[in-house]
Amino acid sequence: MKNLIDIKDLTEQEIEDLIKVAKNIMKNPENYSDKCNHKKLATLFFEPSTRTRLSFEAAMYELGGHVIGFSDSNSSSTSKGESVSDTIRTVGCYSDIIAMRHPKEGAPFVASRKSTVPIINAGDGGHNHPTQTLTDLLTISCEKKRLNNLTIGLCGDLKFGRTVHSLITAMLRYDNIKFILISPEELKTPEYIKDNIKKSNKEFIETNDIEEYIGDLDILYMTRVQKERFFNEEDYLRLKDYYILDEEKLEKAKKDLCIMHPLPRVNEISTKVDDDPRACYFKQVLYGKYVRMALILKMLDID
Ligand code: NCD
Repeated sequence: MKNLIDIKDLTEQEIEDLIKVAKNIMKNPENYSDKCNHKKLATLFFEPSTRTRLSFEAAMYELGGHVIGFSDSNSSSTSKGESVSDTIRTVGCYSDIIAMRHPKEGAPFVASRKSTVPIINAGDGGHNHPTQTLTDLLTISCEKKRLNNLTIGLCGDLKFGRTVHSLITAMLRYDNIKFILISPEELKTPEYIKDNIKKSNKEFIETNDIEEYIGDLDILYMTRVQKERFFNEEDYLRLKDYYILDEEKLEKAKKDLCIMHPLPRVNEISTKVDDDPRACYFKQVLYGKYVRMALILKMLDID
């Protein structure tokens, strides 16, 4: 596979294989510790990140490889006016694989057309985030032991939340998946995503009421309101605390609910929930590192 821009670039079988390799790495990390000797990953982050960038970097180090890159476009030649394509062509001379995050939708795709090395989209604007989705799929597979027969609630900013868009796209492939899309009116799921759900003949409900549906869910995927994608501070302030998941709301939830969040959390999950055995969001972070290790191996064609 040359690039990972959209989760659909991976077949169902490839995703299954990645999950299998990630689980093997979790069991026997020592078998993988020198697989990427002498290989270099470049992380080009034109937009802030804690987990995704460090997760890629930790993944590469644990495979015995090296990492170069930047975490702030102001410290790169972008600030001098260099185009993304030129930056990518340059970095391709120094690295074997590139993970890039960019505030503009489609930037990693444009970059991939000029790149001499594989490109991984580490998040493009409010569009896609395929490696978060691989993280989410590994989390679901480990915590629920299945990727089918699930009622999945997605809650918060479903309009700008790229992790939500990629996760829905991925889950459309599995049998008997039902989506409960929980958001305020202003942050509803984009029409093109809902059209895709309809085309796949999957069921979905749109609501702004988390309490009405929380008892039906196998997975509750909370998200923060994406401040940086708002044009207007007033709207952000009005919507940012629309949902706060707390122990009281969770009383109605199933005992084996899996609570996920791509993080960072702002206020949307009370810290008191962190000790609830159903809270999976910090485990999810760890799964992210393992699945990125599996992905780097696949993209570099290393067994
Ligand atoms: C997400 C992102 O960057 O889209 N974070 C992440 O990668 N784990 C979610 C977010 O920023 O809200």
